[in-house]
Amino acid sequence: MKIFGIFGDPIEHSLSPAMQNAAFRALGLDACYFPFRITKERLEDAILGASAMGFGGLNLTIPLKEKALKIVIPDDLAEAIGAVNTVSFGEDIVGHNTDGLGAMKALEEARVKIKGSSALLIGAGGAARAIAYTLAKEGAEISIANRNPGKALELAGFIQGEGYGLEDLERLVPQADVIINATSVGMMEGDPRLFDGNLLHIGQVVFDIVYNRETEMLKDTVKIGAVAIDGVMMLVYQGAKALEIWTGLKPPIDVMEKAVREELKARER
Ligand code: ATR
Repeated sequence: MKIFGIFGDPIEHSLSPAMQNAAFRALGLDACYFPFRITKERLEDAILGASAMGFGGLNLTIPLKEKALKIVIPDDLAEAIGAVNTVSFGEDIVGHNTDGLGAMKALEEARVKIKGSSALLIGAGGAARAIAYTLAKEGAEISIANRNPGKALELAGFIQGEGYGLEDLERLVPQADVIINATSVGMMEGDPRLFDGNLLHIGQVVFDIVYNRETEMLKDTVKIGAVAIDGVMMLVYQGAKALEIWTGLKPPIDVMEKAVREELKARER
């Protein structure tokens, strides 16, 4: 049996084991995916240990994605993004980043045209960086708004975009074709809105990377009649790309989505 896993701290709430194990079953693979609580201090030991034990592959999550850059050999995209979320074991231990691709596929699935579209990205952390690089490569024109505008400007500088503070959202939101929330705002009930929902209009797409609940931003989007995309499909597609990197097989997207949505529903109870 091949062992796969996700390293993070905390890790109890990860949906990846349910999602990847469902995929392995559907593909008929003799493989199992486990969560491991690994601290930053032990990350190198853990990755080398997994390699020595013949693991099939790893995912990395908070707070390990940046630290891993110095332990594995990052591919060009992971290096540019500055974070690794997927590790493959071959001749070398290679670090990949599938988060941006996950976001792009979620948008593509909703038939959002990316090339030439004007995208407003809110946030400038790890998830936002992955999305910014991938969308820029696909030809979107990107504006970045962040609570700390300095970080927005810095990220914008790397992708030839424009950087702003959150106070600019009132002007930026109505102009954008696609609005992406890449912050954690909305994860908790009672989180404040990043912008007034009335700034939205029909024809726009709002993609919120939060997946554990329907955020106020997405509720506002549905109310206005614009297209709302939650974070579940990004989670599914980043995991699907990881599975493809590890096994070379075509991932069963529907099975993975169903596993995630069922797990989320089970946790509501
Ligand atoms: P991740 O890896 O999930 O992207 P991160 O790197 O810690 O996490 O980034 C979190 C993002 O959410 C940042 O853009 C952060 O803004 P700052 O750079 O100004 O810290 C944003 N964020 C977090 N809490 C926020 C809040 N209450 N309001 C606005 N933005 C917030």
